[in-house]
Amino acid sequence: MDSAAPLAGSLAIVRTVAELRARVRIWRAGGERVGLVPTMGALHDGHLSLVARAQEDCDRVVVTLFVNPKQFGPNEDFARYPRDESADAAKLGAAGADLLYAPDVAMMYGDGFATTVTVVGLTDGMEGAVRPGHFAGVATVVAKLLNQAGADDAYFGEKDYQQLAVIRRLADDLDIATRIHGVPTVREADGLALSSRNAYLTNDQRKIAPALQRGLAAAAAALAGGAAVQSTLDAACAAILKAGFDAVDYVELRDAYTLASLSTLTRPARLLAAARLGKTRLLDNLAVDPR
Ligand code: PAF
Repeated sequence: MDSAAPLAGSLAIVRTVAELRARVRIWRAGGERVGLVPTMGALHDGHLSLVARAQEDCDRVVVTLFVNPKQFGPNEDFARYPRDESADAAKLGAAGADLLYAPDVAMMYGDGFATTVTVVGLTDGMEGAVRPGHFAGVATVVAKLLNQAGADDAYFGEKDYQQLAVIRRLADDLDIATRIHGVPTVREADGLALSSRNAYLTNDQRKIAPALQRGLAAAAAALAGGAAVQSTLDAACAAILKAGFDAVDYVELRDAYTLASLSTLTRPARLLAAARLGKTRLLDNLAVDPR
């Protein structure tokens, strides 16, 4: 039986696959189109823009909240990742989402769980190099969430651009019928991309943080103007460090669709970067098109 308790307007919370499927089945049987927004909570306006985009396309919007242990490395921030389900539910209720699916670890990874979804190629380099095992954790949980919900459409932020490419690939390769949509990054007024991890920044680090986007924007303009790729990437890296970042993990130019490394700008591309302020890693990316 569906035991979901109504909360904050018409939002209900379910915690089991059976309850989730029962809800989605009823909506789809009534001819309604269902959108899915997977999240790890700590919701901000970037997540709410995914909900808003899903609401444009769909009659019903399901948001998932699961801090997925499989996508965190042993020395990463799983334990301290911000968690506040009530605050998240209140935001989703106010935004008019229809359902929050918040399973626990035992529901997602029951006794004997032994399957890992691994996407090769697209996961080489960048986040795949810095965070070994991360994309296998993401691909495994996203494949499960897509299968569990059986939604018509699913929405992911372009902020995690390599992740979005991995998810598109796995949905194609595994014949998952849900359509995958990328949604543009939402930024603060000073250009900083919204991220749940921005909450870790001290006041001083917060002042430095927009330099990542500024460095990328300057590099994107230079590349679009015909500047050489490697020297532009090196200059962006130097500018980000000079602004006060402690380390730059990468600044790379990749094909916008295949994520193949580019040494010349001959087709639609993406400039991607990750840099560290203290223990906090910030990611950003921008589109770059050839002249
Ligand atoms: O981007 C995220 O919040 C997570 O990686 C996702 C897609 C919800 C999978 O846990």
